[in-house]
Amino acid sequence: MTLPDDHAKDYIEKYMTQDAIIKVQGKYPLQGSVRIQGSKNATLPVLAACLLIPGKCVIHNCPIITDVMYMLRLLEYAGCIVTWKGNQVTVDACNVKEFRLPGEYVKKMRSSVILMGALLGRLHEVGIDYPGGCVIGERPIDQHLRGLEALGAKISMEGNYIHASSGKLQGAKIAFPSSSVGATQNVLLASVMARGETRIQNAAKEPEIAALCSFLRLAGADIVGEETGQITIHGVEELHPVEFDMMPDRIVAGTYLFAAMAAGGEICIKEAPIMHLTQVLHVLENMGGELKLRQESQEIELRVKERTKNLSYIETNVYPGFPTDLQSPLLSVAVVSEGKLLLKERIFSGRFKIVEELRRMGADITEYSNSVLIRGSSCLEGRNVIARELRGGAALVIAGLAASGITMVTDTRYISRGYEDIVRDLRTLGAHISINKI
Ligand code: EPZ
Repeated sequence: MTLPDDHAKDYIEKYMTQDAIIKVQGKYPLQGSVRIQGSKNATLPVLAACLLIPGKCVIHNCPIITDVMYMLRLLEYAGCIVTWKGNQVTVDACNVKEFRLPGEYVKKMRSSVILMGALLGRLHEVGIDYPGGCVIGERPIDQHLRGLEALGAKISMEGNYIHASSGKLQGAKIAFPSSSVGATQNVLLASVMARGETRIQNAAKEPEIAALCSFLRLAGADIVGEETGQITIHGVEELHPVEFDMMPDRIVAGTYLFAAMAAGGEICIKEAPIMHLTQVLHVLENMGGELKLRQESQEIELRVKERTKNLSYIETNVYPGFPTDLQSPLLSVAVVSEGKLLLKERIFSGRFKIVEELRRMGADITEYSNSVLIRGSSCLEGRNVIARELRGGAALVIAGLAASGITMVTDTRYISRGYEDIVRDLRTLGAHISINKI
């Protein structure tokens, strides 16, 4: 199995694949600046797209996180030669020949499902188990399968195993009933070398879709319209290898901004994807955060001098709405902010997993079917809490920053799926935080 260079290898073995406990001493304001890692949710589809290209692609600013490690393992199973040195990944997909992927890694993360589009595009066949991923609610793939069938794939399912095969794929008109990031990515990957024209209506408009389209266009694909939600692809014969710089992770940037809202103080986020955070910055300002944005240097300065105050209502939505991936970090700030907030989750059915843990810390939260009513209280008590999924785990660390006393967060391997090193980054910002293996 290919791992990154020594430093990253030790780091991954020590922090990511084994259990550890994050210890947070609360009530210390943050101070300082931190650089934002490459985007997990743009890196994963770009790595899947490398399968389409018979040559060596190089990805710079690739985040060192377990989801990337699992994706690279899957590419290796398909026949790619992968090298990973620090934040640079090279994928040589000259000899991709295996269409069956191992359930062990497929089940580690939801995004393995987009390898269906990539393998159908390259080998016209794929065998994959139903994908895994965080327990944030129903994770159906009906739109993925409908899109691939529209392009000519014959799909059969036996228990949890999905087999799809096709001759050369044929362009089609695909109208998604609702926006799906992964299903849009799957159709993009399958259609860039299909015969003729493919039109995707109601395509997802997240920045990670635009990143995938930029990568594919750089490799020779003919794609227009990703900013509009109506994407048109004209199939090409072949794609060629590229070097690609990964954009910064808007969710990691937002996580650290909410950390400052919870702890107070003054921070600077460097290499911040300002244009991808408009709605989030609007919420921060209305909660009392003082922002200074430097577009030219891509820096966000946030000063939190007073106790934050709650907006009356916020709902998550597809981009450019408030991102569902920052709903839990917002929740951890809302529980210590002044006033009441009704927070509605419109994307996933089970994304309030941290409510129970926050209540144990003293939060006043009433849960309804897909929303919660928070009555901001002035204090949280440090407790031993359990991370049950990626963004909820990061949100519990944020709650620890705001709580009095010590908060211990276990099952930190979920956090390592998307954050290179949340302890390193928050410590850089002055947090009293450490991590110990169990
Ligand atoms: C991507 O997941 C992200 N993951 C998620 O980030 C993010 O929360 C989500 O998009 C929404 O922005 C990656 O990019 C790897 P969807 P994805 O398909 O593609 C329903 C994180 O924390 N749906 O846009 O799985 C689905 O159940 C992760 O980094 C169907 O019904 O999300 C959900 O309710 C968590 N049928 C909604 O659509 C389908 O076939 C949006 O899901 C597909 C989706």
